[in-house]
Amino acid sequence: MSTYVVHGGNLLTGEVRIGGAKNSVLPIMAASLLNLSQTKLLDCPNITDVDISIEILKHLGCSVHREGYTAEIDSSEINNFEIPLELMNKMRSSFIFLGAMLAIGGKAVCGYPGGCELGARPIDLHLKAFKKLGVRIKEKGGYISCDSSHFKACKVALDFPSVGATENIMLLACKQKGTTIIINAAREPEIKDLQNFLNSMGAHISGAGSSRIRIEGVPSLKSVKKRIMPDRIVAATMMFAVATTGGNITLKNVDCSHLESIIFLLKDCGAEIYTHCDSLDIKCVGRLKSPDTLQTMPYPGFPTDAQSQALASFTTMEGTSIVKETIFENRFNQTSELKKMGADITIGDRMAVIRGVPRLHGAHVYSPDLRGGAALVIAALGAEGKTIVDNIHYIDRGYDNLENMISSLGGDIIRE
Ligand code: UD1
Repeated sequence: MSTYVVHGGNLLTGEVRIGGAKNSVLPIMAASLLNLSQTKLLDCPNITDVDISIEILKHLGCSVHREGYTAEIDSSEINNFEIPLELMNKMRSSFIFLGAMLAIGGKAVCGYPGGCELGARPIDLHLKAFKKLGVRIKEKGGYISCDSSHFKACKVALDFPSVGATENIMLLACKQKGTTIIINAAREPEIKDLQNFLNSMGAHISGAGSSRIRIEGVPSLKSVKKRIMPDRIVAATMMFAVATTGGNITLKNVDCSHLESIIFLLKDCGAEIYTHCDSLDIKCVGRLKSPDTLQTMPYPGFPTDAQSQALASFTTMEGTSIVKETIFENRFNQTSELKKMGADITIGDRMAVIRGVPRLHGAHVYSPDLRGGAALVIAALGAEGKTIVDNIHYIDRGYDNLENMISSLGGDIIRE
């Protein structure tokens, strides 16, 4: 098992390029089943969640060739519409394959999805929407088997704007007869990236980015080449890292419009931020000021995926912050580890009170999940002395060599 060894105290300076987004590439890889043809993905990040998606694609009969940041998928020989529990358990977003398998096979079986332990993470919204669209569903022994031969396009309203459920419906409906409309759809930029991908294959989808998405079914889809959008959460992570250590960095290949809630918050804390066409400069001098409150919300609100990193940064800002988590109940798992480093945090019901201390100190800490792990790295970069961050396999799920990115900016971090 690898760990990160971090010696805190270095300012971060320089320039770094942000790669393709995990939350965009995963549904797009599932969507690559739909054309029964070739898909070429550029800026495909080297993260373990992509490795798991490739395992699933191969299990279904696809051939996948990956070189550097390019992945080529050929789904013309797909011959299997069943994903076993062991594969499903490796990653929650594996569930997105269900909509794609049904779209081409009419029948599909898969186990319940796994992933980071962020609370209950049910799939009821996906299944309710599928049922509304005429999909027949049987659940038995940890497996869900679905039959979409009686699919009937209609309006589907989500009780909550679930990202995964929105994407699953888009995949299920885009090759079926009729017009499907999603009401209260999630508005995350990754959904727009999925729409762009499907439309460049020949689908007729509009409205992604708003809460109403219209999907007009088309009979077939063609081969496609697509560059994955930049990862706004990796960009946010680097912004909170420099807010913690101080310094001056430029993030290349970012879409600043996706980062508005982060930019707004950090400017309020005293960071200087300048946005350009596809890059962003952030400069932080001295100790920043804690924001009074932060609440996570579906996009365009503050992303739950950046909350742990923000909280880590607040531990050494001047003043007290209250962080309220409204999306996932277990998103404060890293706080016990931050306390080992000297942080002053009190946890309540889905909220945390953080009283800033001048500096944290090094400790041996354990990543509880993907974003919680990144938060510990951020805390370690600002802390006095040496920190060992354990369980970094969680971090590898969504960050492509985080250590290279940080050390290229002058941070002292090595993988052991
Ligand atoms: C996606 C992201 C994840 C991010 C999350 C919220 C991917 C691969 N993952 O996850 O990084 O943290 O959006 O922005 O894109 N819910 C239900 N029933 C359901 C589905 C969801 O109750 O059927 C609840 C969840 O428990 C959670 C909330 O809805 O409380 C949001 O979940 P959802 O938007 O579906 O997140 P994911 O698609 O799993």
